[in-house]
Amino acid sequence: MSTGVVLLGSTGSVGETALKVLRLHPDAFHVVGLAAWRRVERLAEQVREFRPRAVSVGRAEDARRLREAFPGLEVHSGPDGAVRLVEHSEGHTVVAAIVGSRGLASTYRAVQLGRRVALANKEALVMAGRLMMEAAHRSGAELLPVDSEHCAVFQCLKAESPRHVRRILLTASGGALRDLPREALPEARLEQVLAHPTWRMGRKITVDSATMMNKGLEVIEAHHLFGVPLGRISVVIHPQSLVHSMVEYEDGSVLAQLAATDMALPVQYALTYPARLPGAIPFLDLAAGPALTFSEPDPLRYPCLGLAREAAARSEGHAIALNAANEVAVQAFLDGRIRFGALPGVIRGVLERTPDATPSGLEEIYGADDSARRRAEALVARAGGAA
Ligand SMILES: NC(=O)c1ccc[n+]([C@@H]2O[C@H](COP(=O)([O-])OP(=O)(O)OC[C@H]3O[C@@H](n4cnc5c(N)ncnc54)[C@H](OP(=O)(O)O)[C@@H]3O)[C@@H](O)[C@H]2O)c1
Repeated sequence: MSTGVVLLGSTGSVGETALKVLRLHPDAFHVVGLAAWRRVERLAEQVREFRPRAVSVGRAEDARRLREAFPGLEVHSGPDGAVRLVEHSEGHTVVAAIVGSRGLASTYRAVQLGRRVALANKEALVMAGRLMMEAAHRSGAELLPVDSEHCAVFQCLKAESPRHVRRILLTASGGALRDLPREALPEARLEQVLAHPTWRMGRKITVDSATMMNKGLEVIEAHHLFGVPLGRISVVIHPQSLVHSMVEYEDGSVLAQLAATDMALPVQYALTYPARLPGAIPFLDLAAGPALTFSEPDPLRYPCLGLAREAAARSEGHAIALNAANEVAVQAFLDGRIRFGALPGVIRGVLERTPDATPSGLEEIYGADDSARRRAEALVARAGGAA
């Protein structure tokens, strides 16, 4: 039987990879809904190829154009468009691949409704991890990680009792600037930061990889997904990006998952689990490949990793503020308003002004997110002025 898929963030890097996977298995899957935001021309091409029943976009004007071009297509728009798309998609798998906090509401709704959720939108778990896991428990939603590291951990944990886990080891490439002298980091240029050595991804996550905030967010994501305390989640630099993560057990065994550096595998695994299908990625030739190396991340080179750990240990309100401040600071860097070296200072400044909080629902989460964004914008203005 063919599984219906709702793809949130279809025009992004993960979204396009998901479509590549779906193209490989036309009998196993069909596209029911697609959500994008601004890249409407690309969305229209996707509609022509995959013939979904419904879509959502950002602007009402774009929605009108799509309705004219595709009579019979259900078209939602605005910030809640993706939520409505999820609500109209009974029984189907949802790929949550919207970037950042804007993906929270639709991801959370999919979890509440008990869908299988292929989760790429890690920021949703950072902001609302406890509430999301509680909702999944109530609704029976299956949360299958699309982050390659969490997909690896998920596979290494299978059939093992979590109480035997000593440590989760998340691997990190080290990002685009890992070989740049430390004193040159503050003035790193945008094109240097976006030149990721092993992965091709969206701009926000590529900047997060260079600061290693991405790994910090992933530590928090792993904590929620796998119920492992933050102190038992380590990060190790592995420049070849072939070992996608590891689990160390109390008897000294370390289980690792290796595969070619290609998001098609974790996306496909989340869609087909527990089945494994061939064809999405090339096989590894370990003897012909590079030597696999591992090292400790330097906390002075990657202060954002420490900030993420501190925020998550402090309170849920701090994790929300961390994510909001990071999104504001990364956007400011992408826009050329602040230097690369100003990113950690903006995030630290916001965290220092954040009160402890345990939000009871999405409204309080958005409230904390909004306050942190305003503080971050003020700090960006100051850091930009000082540049
Ligand atoms: N890229 C990777 O390899 C990778 C790996 C692991 C995890 N992730 C995670 O996956 C998520 C997506 O990353 P990405 O690199 O694919 O990002 P991306 O390339 O920037 O794509 C983001 C997608 O989200 C859509 N979008 C933005 N705001 C939206 C809104 N309000 N409503 C609906 N759609 C919206 C964009 O639409 P438009 O383009 O139409 O504006 C686009 O389709 C992130 O959370 C990231 O951390 C990514």
